[in-house]
Amino acid sequence: MAWIDVCFSATGVLDFPILFGVHTVIMNTLRWIRAFLFFALAAIAPALCAQAAQSQPEFIQPGAVWLDTQGHQIQAHGGGVLYHDHVWYWFGEDRTQGLDPDKRYVACYSSRDLIHWTFRGRPLQLADPDRIGSGWVLERPKVFYSRSTRQFVMYFHLDDSAYKVARVATAISSTPTGPYRYVRSFRPLGLESRDIGQFEDDDGSDYLIFESRPSGGFYIAELSSDRLSVARQVAFLDLALEGGAVVHYRDLYYVLGSHLTGWNPNPNVYSSAPSLTGPWTQFLPVAPAVPDTYGAQSGLLLKITGDRNTAVIFMGDIWNPSKLWDSRYLWMPVQVGEGKMALPPPAPWTIDVTTGVVTVNPKEQIAKITK
Ligand code: DGJ
Repeated sequence: MAWIDVCFSATGVLDFPILFGVHTVIMNTLRWIRAFLFFALAAIAPALCAQAAQSQPEFIQPGAVWLDTQGHQIQAHGGGVLYHDHVWYWFGEDRTQGLDPDKRYVACYSSRDLIHWTFRGRPLQLADPDRIGSGWVLERPKVFYSRSTRQFVMYFHLDDSAYKVARVATAISSTPTGPYRYVRSFRPLGLESRDIGQFEDDDGSDYLIFESRPSGGFYIAELSSDRLSVARQVAFLDLALEGGAVVHYRDLYYVLGSHLTGWNPNPNVYSSAPSLTGPWTQFLPVAPAVPDTYGAQSGLLLKITGDRNTAVIFMGDIWNPSKLWDSRYLWMPVQVGEGKMALPPPAPWTIDVTTGVVTVNPKEQIAKITK
């Protein structure tokens, strides 16, 4: 062995006691180094992973697999976003494969820049709360914050496998990331309710948007101050739309929704009004250049008010019904103003949430979103 060459005493004669003494010392030292490296690596591995995630492109890529900061595909389908204490919380249906088939799961992610999202667990893991039966449905969770009770209230669409129950359900928590405790289910304003959406106005009032099939339209309804109930109807829009979303931009309100085509995309439409109560303009397609809204279904319009610009982001789902877990997201800033709204062709984009300035990289326009 090579180390024997250096193990001579001063006389130049091989000295066995020295040899074995030095050998033991070296072997022990090597063991210590190995143990040290092992523990050091274990200690810094999470930081390395986080850094790897952070060093992902700083662009949001509509339609691509979107990884959280731990490198897992984000599961927040049909989601909603709550902004609280300078953090955005993204809640959505967690369709991860292999979970308990009798339960339904809501996942939560948080971000300070809208680009990097950290998984904050599953704040709601629910077993059929109203004994609806197998195939029961939990969809489109949305979380509101009540300033009066300091509680977070989650709403979601609760249904049976045939979508005949048509109710909303609520769950509460004292922290945004849960765990949430189931409260009850009900029909808002006594009406059938399927897809729900959320809207917080600039004055802090919160609204539930819900599609109601028997009336052939959808409602915007204000929530009570404790957010636990639907207090009053604000508007009824006479068009059967789901995936409903509302934003207040400058002096107008905009409402956006999709037609009722199940999981399949269709031309999403928008309308505007000077007040939530209307009068609402005729609905027009938000992406007239394509027949299917680039494969996406509306879900939320998020307003980011920076110190230089106010951006409005279309947050939609690109559903993959045969692999719901691999459904993707189409988040894209819209062109909005003077009663018009346009969803541009999907392209990588980024936002500085301090200034509100959005940068779209149209050179890398995503021509076709692949599932
Ligand atoms: C369309 C809705 O927007 C989705 O949330 C889901 O309910 C599907 N329909 C089910 O077909």
